[in-house]
Amino acid sequence: MPPAAAVVGRSVTRAFRHLSTQDLHTRRVEEAYRVVVECVAAVDPAMRLYMFGSTAVYGVHEKGSDVDFVALSKTDVEDGKGEDAATQVAKGLQAEFLGKLARVVRQRHFSWNVEEVRRTRVPVVRVKDGSSVDFDITVNRRNGVRNSALLRAYFEQDPPCRWLSMGVKRWSKRAGLNASVVGGSITSYGFNLMVVYYLLRRGALRFIPPAAIDVAQVPPVPPYLPLEPPRNDGAELGEQVLDFLQFYLHEFDAAHHVISLSRPGITTKEQLNWTKNAEDRARMNGEKINYQWCIEDPYELNLNVGRNVTPLKRDFLRRHLEKARETALLTAT
Ligand code: CTP
Ligand code: MG
Repeated sequence: MPPAAAVVGRSVTRAFRHLSTQDLHTRRVEEAYRVVVECVAAVDPAMRLYMFGSTAVYGVHEKGSDVDFVALSKTDVEDGKGEDAATQVAKGLQAEFLGKLARVVRQRHFSWNVEEVRRTRVPVVRVKDGSSVDFDITVNRRNGVRNSALLRAYFEQDPPCRWLSMGVKRWSKRAGLNASVVGGSITSYGFNLMVVYYLLRRGALRFIPPAAIDVAQVPPVPPYLPLEPPRNDGAELGEQVLDFLQFYLHEFDAAHHVISLSRPGITTKEQLNWTKNAEDRARMNGEKINYQWCIEDPYELNLNVGRNVTPLKRDFLRRHLEKARETALLTAT
């Protein structure tokens, strides 16, 4: 017999009890923002700096979580609904800017670890300062700001839903499913798309057209969105967790359907041409693209956020979804 929703909810709530004594205000990362602003200005004073990722999505900053920054030009911001260039030329220019930026960061903060990562889909500079906040910096790409603002706009419709997202993210890391851990295949971003898609299918959220999100309307430093403890000791959260697992185990038709926020209703693999045939041919940076577990990126053309889910990882995901009921998302001790 799987545990009752109330038991699951209580267990997940307990796993986050350390947050009740933490300062979750986004001002805790404003210092990092200032440091990066100064370094960016040394390379090009006309560039503007935006914070995105979990701090923007949730409107809180959890201790230990990294922060994402992107430097945007005035035109990038003004054309805030524009598509990001995905060409090799654009990538080269981004890498060049980031090379200069990395040099400045190293000069000013010589004890920090500054790494230029070029082999990824998006060139990035990764900074570890050894104590407070680690961060990633990208350039001239609006999509991260837009997709974070989109996820946030959804969570603002029902702020307690952030607990489901945080519970799922924590579980995905502990279960080894999250791309940030060895062997993992879906990013936290991908899990967030899964959470919001589930809530949309249940009618718990109203659909937001991704095209409505305009960088020109997004604040560069995300405002704080206070996080109240789960209601009734997590009773509703427990229901939601079990229902989320039920949805992805037994209702979502992974063989034919795509997890998508791009349009209301159902999106099929056929519609996107994410078929067996395409799978056999598609490559990205030399790596195979899988269409086993499909998550459509709302802004990136023809990008499956679940592309690293191989048939083996798909089985792994299913087994973990099954186990997650008994373990209350791996929170039961
Ligand atoms: N992102 C993206 N495309 C991806 C992965 C990430 O655009 N394929 C962007 C998203 O804007 C996302 C941000 O990068 O919000 C950070 O991604 P990630 O670290 O996966 O999510 P977080 O919510 O920051 O989770 P964590 O706490 O694990 O860092
Ligand atoms: Mg992050």
